[in-house]
Amino acid sequence: MSMTTTTTLADVAATSLSAVRTLERYGLDYCCGGKQPFDEACTAKGLKPESVMQEIERPQAPDASERDWQTAPLDEIVKHIVGTHHEYLKLELPALGNRMNKVLAVHGPKDQQTLSRLADVFGSLRAEMEMHMHKEELMLFPFLEQYGRAETLGRPLPPVPFGSVANPIGVMEREHEGAGGALLEIRELTRSFEYPSYACSTVRALFDGLKALEADLHVHIHLENNILFPRAIALEKK
Ligand SMILES: [Fe+2]
Ligand SMILES: [Fe+2]
Repeated sequence: MSMTTTTTLADVAATSLSAVRTLERYGLDYCCGGKQPFDEACTAKGLKPESVMQEIERPQAPDASERDWQTAPLDEIVKHIVGTHHEYLKLELPALGNRMNKVLAVHGPKDQQTLSRLADVFGSLRAEMEMHMHKEELMLFPFLEQYGRAETLGRPLPPVPFGSVANPIGVMEREHEGAGGALLEIRELTRSFEYPSYACSTVRALFDGLKALEADLHVHIHLENNILFPRAIALEKK
């Protein structure tokens, strides 16, 4: 974006979600302190405004959706899921939690019923996803990586420690259904992420973040449910 001396933190935050994330990372308050000029706020924190802006405008990593995951080795899919989607959740869930708390504290009384329910649904989704990723990364995924490497090298598949891969996969799929239900309720509660009349920068960042969370989680679950898991089950049956 073209910056002038009057560009405020709120102006910068409004440009994109990546801008919001960068501002949050540097502790630049775009909400209550949003009227502060961007340059001044950076300088006050000992940051170079040009460097922060460069980071905000840095192009995102190349799109991995081009990769044909139906033929990629299983260990490569696992690495992609963890490196892209799990990392995303590990960064975004705490940031969204902070925004949610702020919104609840500032705007709670204006829309008590909806905002409390939204906070509850988001809180459970966050806790469940954190536990879910932990299980995948600790138990199922290391095994699927071994599976993938054995297949690539043409070696015998390692013995399954949990009876059949279908067992833990079934558990993960049920947990995905729970997450899908929570996303649906979040969409309903936010009226498809439409800003409410009282929306300030933080409310907008919360709604944009929840919308992005939904999109990312949909791709994440699709990769697991529709590609990784069926391929692992087919490999076991071979
Ligand atoms: Fe996952
Ligand atoms: Fe999962």
